[in-house]
Amino acid sequence: MVNRGLCFTFFVVTLVTAQYVPPFTEDCQTGMYPPSGPTFKGAVTWYTVDLDLPPSERWKGVITDKQKELASMIQAIKDLADAFVPSGRLIDLVDRDLPLMVDTLPYPFNEEIRGIATASGVPLGEVVLFNIFYEIFTVCTSLVAEDPDGNLIHARNLDFGLFMGWDLKNRSWVITEKLKPLVVNIEFTRSNHTVFKSTNFAGYVGMLTGIRPHMFTLTMNERFSLDGGYIGILEWILGKRDGMWMSFLTRSVLENATSYAEAKKLLSDTKLLAPAYFILGGNQTGEGCIITRSRTHSINPLELDPKKGRWYVLETNYDHWKEALFLDDRRTPAMKCMNQTTQTSISFKTVYDVLSTKPVLNKLTTYTTLMDVSKGKLESFIRDCPNPCMPW
Ligand SMILES: *[C@@H]1O[C@H](CO)[C@@H](O)[C@H](O)[C@H]1NC(C)=O
Ligand SMILES: *[C@@H]1O[C@H](CO)[C@@H](O)[C@H](O)[C@H]1NC(C)=O
Ligand SMILES: *[C@@H]1O[C@H](CO)[C@@H](O)[C@H](O)[C@H]1NC(C)=O
Ligand SMILES: *[C@@H]1O[C@H](CO)[C@@H](O)[C@H](O)[C@H]1NC(C)=O
Ligand SMILES: *[C@@H]1O[C@H](CO)[C@@H](O)[C@H](O)[C@H]1NC(C)=O
Repeated sequence: MVNRGLCFTFFVVTLVTAQYVPPFTEDCQTGMYPPSGPTFKGAVTWYTVDLDLPPSERWKGVITDKQKELASMIQAIKDLADAFVPSGRLIDLVDRDLPLMVDTLPYPFNEEIRGIATASGVPLGEVVLFNIFYEIFTVCTSLVAEDPDGNLIHARNLDFGLFMGWDLKNRSWVITEKLKPLVVNIEFTRSNHTVFKSTNFAGYVGMLTGIRPHMFTLTMNERFSLDGGYIGILEWILGKRDGMWMSFLTRSVLENATSYAEAKKLLSDTKLLAPAYFILGGNQTGEGCIITRSRTHSINPLELDPKKGRWYVLETNYDHWKEALFLDDRRTPAMKCMNQTTQTSISFKTVYDVLSTKPVLNKLTTYTTLMDVSKGKLESFIRDCPNPCMPW
């Protein structure tokens, strides 16, 4: 927490010296959908991953297509590591020690990661690094909203790359920009039938955003917490391995849970390596919740309650019963725009408008995903935040 505070201070100073002054906020946007213009950086390509294949073979198609982009991303991480600890020592460590870690990861994730290393030619330790660092630096906005007919819409902005190399000249985050070309939509199949769909990063085997058509929708946001942010991850490296990686749990739930109730139970009760927020939507009225997790249990779940007027739930990176950090309040502007939209007008179009309003849209925003459970539909868009724009 102290560290995060220092970083914010540092950026405030940088911003002032760069004469890069507010306002970063704006009135609620309208008419942004269908996406076009300077906040829309491109469509996302669809791929199929066949779960009937052995895990080591599943990602071949995606990786063959995205090999160059993945290599360029990993090079950017290495450059950052070298800037941080000169002489390449950090990456030597990654190449030497992280390959061993893959054996400690659960099936099928261990095998899939090996398959990705083979298919991409990227050293195994670096693919492992790429797969664990999402657990650490993701900040986001997710919401589930119900229309007057009881249809549920689940949407999110994925914001990634905080503190990972601010490019002063471009006014952008180095890692965020490198991630955009890696965004893919994936349809996971068994026996040629869709099991679930997700928006993902090529080379990454956990899930942050997904839909099990006609059953449930799920997104995960990071929870910064004093009670053991990274302690569980350190414990794992040191050999105490009794919690689950958060995005692996999300993947397992999307792949194997067959109802909202089952998904909710697994997300609430499975022991985790670090705290997290899970935002879950079901397939009928009232089924939508924010699950705030400590490593061991769920705290103060917040559910939709349309009869009492709570027709949406919305989560950024702060506990819903507490104030957001004043330097990073995306919740108030997002709620203001949801309230302005009103329940009768809720749709892909209006939710996209909310997620296109600064600072809900910011320099870290990599993609926006919209999901409609009863139609089984997932749409996603790569985003840009033109200046002036909040760095987070
Ligand atoms: C940043 O700027 C450099 C040149 O100044 C350019 O080559 C690079 O593509 C830019 N990166 C992004 C992500 O816009
Ligand atoms: C899946 O579809 C492909 C092409 O349509 C077909 O060749 C294959 O046999 C099917 N596999 C199964 C398990 O049904
Ligand atoms: C889902 O369940 C199947 C069958 O039990 C199992 O083989 C698979 O590994 C599970 N998937 C995940 C991601 O845990
Ligand atoms: C909602 O999900 C349940 C559990 O999977 C399923 O039995 C039911 O048919 C679904 N309802 C709709 C309307 O799709
Ligand atoms: C939005 O509406 C809810 C419910 O009426 C209210 O509790 C909340 O304070 C409002 N938030 C904003 C930012 O307008």
